[in-house]
Amino acid sequence: MHSFFTRINNVSALLSSCTMALLAAITIASLLQEAIYPPQINGQISMKPVKVFHAKTPRQRRKQEMGFLNFNMTADLTPLFTWNTKQLFLSLEAEYENIQGVNNTIVLWDRIVRRPEDARVKIIGAKNKYAFKEIGGKGFGKGAPGNASYALKYNLMPYVGMLRYGEAARLSDVPFDVREEL
Ligand SMILES: *[C@@H]1O[C@H](CO)[C@@H](O)[C@H](O)[C@H]1NC(C)=O
Ligand SMILES: *[C@@H]1O[C@H](CO)[C@@H](O)[C@H](O)[C@H]1NC(C)=O
Ligand SMILES: *[C@@H]1O[C@H](CO)[C@@H](O)[C@H](O)[C@H]1NC(C)=O
Repeated sequence: MHSFFTRINNVSALLSSCTMALLAAITIASLLQEAIYPPQINGQISMKPVKVFHAKTPRQRRKQEMGFLNFNMTADLTPLFTWNTKQLFLSLEAEYENIQGVNNTIVLWDRIVRRPEDARVKIIGAKNKYAFKEIGGKGFGKGAPGNASYALKYNLMPYVGMLRYGEAARLSDVPFDVREEL
């Protein structure tokens, strides 16, 4: 009897170390695969000059400069879907230098992609999903250099292993088009 339970113990210990070894092997295999074949995504963004109005969101008391986007974006992210891809987090980020000379990055749009069938992004005439405004309440328009860059970034969440980040598309030198107060 004693030796029977000992044997079961040994077997389950063996199984769990096999599982650990398998997970480690999957992680290494996936890191190697990515190191050898880094997926290159060549997406495209096109955008009209970003209109800037004095406006406010419902929660704000005072008006401030806010940017309004009109953009098209295409990217085929299916190469990022392998057996080890759980989901992708996509975000469109604006990068610009504000009046104080500080480089800012603001997320203006995002999307989660869970299936390879949804990994072909094709967006026409989209607006920013999140408010595009300066935290300080001043603006990016008045007196600012007047251009910003926009990048489609991805964050790949694997089943096993580490998160990975990358850029799928970029558009530089989009001017701000400062309009009259609303
Ligand atoms: C977006 O695509 C539509 C249809 O192809 C086109 O009419 C429009 O001018 C494009 N907008 C931009 C900002 O490129
Ligand atoms: C902001 O970014 C630009 C371009 O990448 C760079 O030349 C500049 O030094 C940056 N400024 C600061 C304050 O980091
Ligand atoms: C802003 O972008 C335009 C092209 O859209 C370019 O001609 C101009 O030199 C840029 N200005 C700055 C300050 O980078």
